[in-house]
Amino acid sequence: MKVLVIGGGAREHALVRAFGADAAVDRIVCAPGNAGIAAEAATRVVPVDVADPAALLALAVREGAELTVVGPELPLARGVADAFADAGRLLFGPSRSAAALESSKAFAKTFMARHGIPTARFEVCTDEGQALEAVAGERFGFPVVVKADGLAAGKGVTVAPDRDAAERAVREAMVARRFGDAGATVVIEECLTGSEVSCFVIADGRRSVTLPAAQDHKRIFDGDAGPNTGGMGAFGPSPLFGPDVESRVMREIVTPALDGMRAEGREYRGVLYVGLMLTRDGPQVIEFNVRLGDPEAQVILPMVESGLVPVLLGAARGDLGDAEWRVTADPRVGVVMASGGYPGAYETGLPISGLAEASSVPGVHVAHAGTAMKDGVVVTSGGRVLTVVARGESFEQAVARAYDAVGRIRFPGSHVRTDIGRKALIAAAGRGRA
Ligand code: AMP
Ligand code: GLY
Repeated sequence: MKVLVIGGGAREHALVRAFGADAAVDRIVCAPGNAGIAAEAATRVVPVDVADPAALLALAVREGAELTVVGPELPLARGVADAFADAGRLLFGPSRSAAALESSKAFAKTFMARHGIPTARFEVCTDEGQALEAVAGERFGFPVVVKADGLAAGKGVTVAPDRDAAERAVREAMVARRFGDAGATVVIEECLTGSEVSCFVIADGRRSVTLPAAQDHKRIFDGDAGPNTGGMGAFGPSPLFGPDVESRVMREIVTPALDGMRAEGREYRGVLYVGLMLTRDGPQVIEFNVRLGDPEAQVILPMVESGLVPVLLGAARGDLGDAEWRVTADPRVGVVMASGGYPGAYETGLPISGLAEASSVPGVHVAHAGTAMKDGVVVTSGGRVLTVVARGESFEQAVARAYDAVGRIRFPGSHVRTDIGRKALIAAAGRGRA
């Protein structure tokens, strides 16, 4: 079977590797891909504008792709699944109306309210006056969270410590239009406290199978300091996501979400990413995303032991059937190597060395994100450049292997957090087995 993967980050590299290991797949096309994806066996990369559903459909037709799998949210929000469905082509990912769970935070929050899904108290504000009033009063207290309604490349959320900061965030979104139309509406909400966990299910509209949960590291610096990023590293399975939490999340969140979306005529087929805060009052939804997380995918996809393709095909067709689903629970840690200056401005085109040496560390592979080939050399081409992923018999071993490999890779100005996975070590130590 020929599979088309849409996207060009480390998450898509992880998808391509998972398909490469699947006996059902003999050829892979990735659009636009990157230098690491291009080097995978039986894989070709093709340049394409991922924001253009018609171009993606034309590519799938031209390539004879029997299954298309979408990595990022943008093509889904633009209706790529609808374009494929109209043309009778199989694509794994939700329709445009179902993708509203990520593309409109106002929709997601009101949806959760309608279906009794636990989430932070909120108000949807469609004008500046209403938003300034919402952040002024006692209602949400401080810190208060200000969120642009639409897609804002991960930059639309401000956790404001005081009223000044909250008002600034409102004005940036609604008046200065820092996120364009995405900030015309904002959601003001209560700040939740607890531990964040990323939980993923693959849904066929009614039923779902569960991937191991992971923990991301969103801030740029050690100790969760500095600005938010796309994610600087991840580990999984999350020690915080035991069987009790999992069954509660399924009962209180995933099942009502799938049922509610179906009832509202927005049947959900694809990966549902539930961003959770584990609070004292139980798990609450911080956000829904309609795709795998990045860097979470790089650590959890290798845990899928059964073939990924039958499950994705079943979900795309609307019936998971009895496709086999088996995942392992061996600890994995992924450390992101970023360009100096990220998430702000950074230089690109810098040569990367030591990739082969890194991959020779036992249990390690390197997923490429912002990389390109220039004159036969792999160079940087984005903010997040690589995710160095290590498997271990314990988190301790996985962390040690990941950082051993990171130390072998060099490019000018590279930045890594040095504490990825530390929370897993602490959780394990707390249970008396480090
Ligand atoms: P997002 O861009 O929607 O992934 O949000 C970015 C980050 O903001 C999340 O990963 C959380 O750390 C934080 N966040 C969003 N909403 C809340 C909330 N209601 N309470 C506390 N933190 C939040
Ligand atoms: N790692 C967070 C995200 O993919 O949104």
